[in-house]
Formats: sequence, structure tokens, C-alpha cells
Amino acid sequence: MRILGIETSCDETGIAIYDSENGLLSNQLHSQARLHQAYGGVVPELASRDHIRRIAPLLEAALQEAGLEPGGIDGVAYTAGPGLIGALLVGAGVGRSLAYAWGVPAVAVHHMEAHLLAVNLEADRPDYPFLALLVSGGHTQLLEVTAAGDYTMLGESLDDAAGEAFDKTAKLLGLGYPGGPLLSALAERGRAGKYTFPRPMTDRPGLDFSFSGLKTAVALVAGELEEGDEQARADVARAFVDAVVDTLAIKCGRAVKQTGINRLVAAGGVSANRQLREKLKAMADETGGRVFYPRPEFCTDNGAMIAYTGYVKISAGRSEPLEFAAYPRWPIFSR
Ligand code: KG4
Ligand code: ZN
Repeated sequence: MRILGIETSCDETGIAIYDSENGLLSNQLHSQARLHQAYGGVVPELASRDHIRRIAPLLEAALQEAGLEPGGIDGVAYTAGPGLIGALLVGAGVGRSLAYAWGVPAVAVHHMEAHLLAVNLEADRPDYPFLALLVSGGHTQLLEVTAAGDYTMLGESLDDAAGEAFDKTAKLLGLGYPGGPLLSALAERGRAGKYTFPRPMTDRPGLDFSFSGLKTAVALVAGELEEGDEQARADVARAFVDAVVDTLAIKCGRAVKQTGINRLVAAGGVSANRQLREKLKAMADETGGRVFYPRPEFCTDNGAMIAYTGYVKISAGRSEPLEFAAYPRWPIFSR
């Protein structure tokens, strides 16, 4: 079975084809990072327009890369949420229409579920059940995964997502967009322990997160920095990254103890972070467990994870009616 996957929830247009026999046949991606850079963040209307511009050429490139004619596709999957409504509607509209034109089933995919299941595109993947730490620009969630489609929420962010905290802090420190990777690189040059920020909500029981206070703590320190003091800026970045990854690792360790499950999948943009990977490895070593990741380009947004998740749904008999919808907010359970 060959499934075409379309991702347009935010600032990446991704189109991929997954074949249940042979794995990924194509994976095309266009990042809008440069388009939004001048504004310091994603401008929703520009994002929607750019998805419209890119989607047809990427579709042609994906079919060509796979050596397929449109008749070779058995189903179409599109991200239906959560995300920017205008951006989502581009992928949902094109995806549903293609499926109609080709006479094949269409399926609406939940973006965070796709991040989670992206690990199944790797040869090295965990047995069920496992824990999943989903850390993206919009979400921070800790889940127990019994099977594909069977999730229990153990904890989530009550305010900013981890990626959002990275992006906002990067902005405070005068870095560009998207801030996560830039802040992470600056932190590599910082010295540990020069500044200390809180590990929010680790001093009380539970698995929820809160990152908005951390950004405020950084703002107070950043305001005091002398202009041009690059080392101090790097030290602040280091202290911020240490606080975020420590907090995430502490909560993951707690979830391992609470559930007795020591296999953890980390996915979503922030899981590409080197410092986080190091901390999670130390946590897993302590509990005799392991951490699994999608390859770095499948940690951030991509079409491959949508195509794969679509395959899981369509092979289980799912198919959407002709009318389609997109959901800017969409809990992972109510699909
Ligand atoms: O999953 P993703 O590509 O899109 C969403 O679903 O939101 O995640 C994007 C987020 C952004 O906040 C970005 O700054 C962050 O992931 N990110 C990183 C790194 N790479 C991407 N944060 C920290 N370190 C990184 N290396
Ligand atoms: Zn994402």
C-alpha cells in the first residue's frame, strides 16, 4: 500500500510517499524559515500563501522521486490539526481533493500523533508499550503509548511549549528565527553554572510542565547584560538550556518510575536538541532503559511522518467523508 502524506500545519510544506513494502519512496520538504525570518516569527497569512505556492511542485517532485504516476497511490493523508488554520486548510483541501480525483481513501492526521509515530520509520524502534515525550513549537506532552492510537496523557505544559520557550528566549537574546537551534548553538559556547534558572514544577509531584516563568527569569538577567558581552550571553543561553532539558529529563524519569516502562520515545522539533539527548540518555542509563528518536530531519516537521501515520489509519480501514475540516486546536485523543 502506498500512501501520500501532506504536511502544512505551520511553516514547512512537506510531501512524502510511504510504501508498506519498501518504506519511504520519497520525501520532499520546503522550509519557510527564510520567509518568516524578517518578522521574527511565523506570519500566518504568509505561511498559507507560501503553502499554496509550493504544494503542487512538491507533489510533482514527490511522485517523480518515487517513480510513480498518480494512479500508483492507494491513499492520501493530510495534517488536519493542530496548527495554523489557513495553513492546515491548504494541505487538507489539496489532500482531500486529490483522494477524490484519484478515487482512493483520504485520512485526516493529527500532527502530534504523527510526530510520535515517526519513530516507526526507523529500523531501531521500541516495542509497545513505551513512553513518549513530544516537544515541539506548540506542544509539550508526556504520554503512555500502549499501541498506535492508544494514548494516555501523563502530563503536559500548562502554558508555553518547550520549543516556544526556546524561540522566545532566543528572541530575548537577540537571535534570529527559528530560535531553538540558534539558542542551542549559543549555549554550546556557554559555561555551566554561571547563571542558574529554576526547574519549574519539579519540586512538587506530577508530570505537568510550565515554561513561561523561565522566559521571564531569562528576561530579567538578559536586561542586565552589558552590550557586546558575548560570553555572558552564551552563559545565559547555557543556563536556560540546562534548566529546560533538566526539567524535561526529571519528568521523564518520574514517568518511568510511575509506570514501570523504561522505553522512551522523544519526538518533535526540540528532540533534535543535542543537550536534551545527552540528559535523556543519562536518565535512561539510570533506569536501565533506552531512548529512541526519529532521525533528526523527522524530529522537525515533515511529510514522511504524515504519510506513515496515514498508512496506519488507512490500513486499519479509516477513511474520511468527502467534506473535510481542519482543527487549529485538537486533542490527541478525540480523533
Ligand atoms: O516539531 P516542530 O518542527 O514544529 C512544531 O510542530 O511546532 O518544532 C519546532 C520547534 C521550534 O520551536 C524550534 O525552535 C524547535 O522546535 N527546535 C529546537 C531545535 N530544533 C528545533 N529547539 C532546540 N534545539 C534544537 N536543536
Ligand atoms: Zn511539528
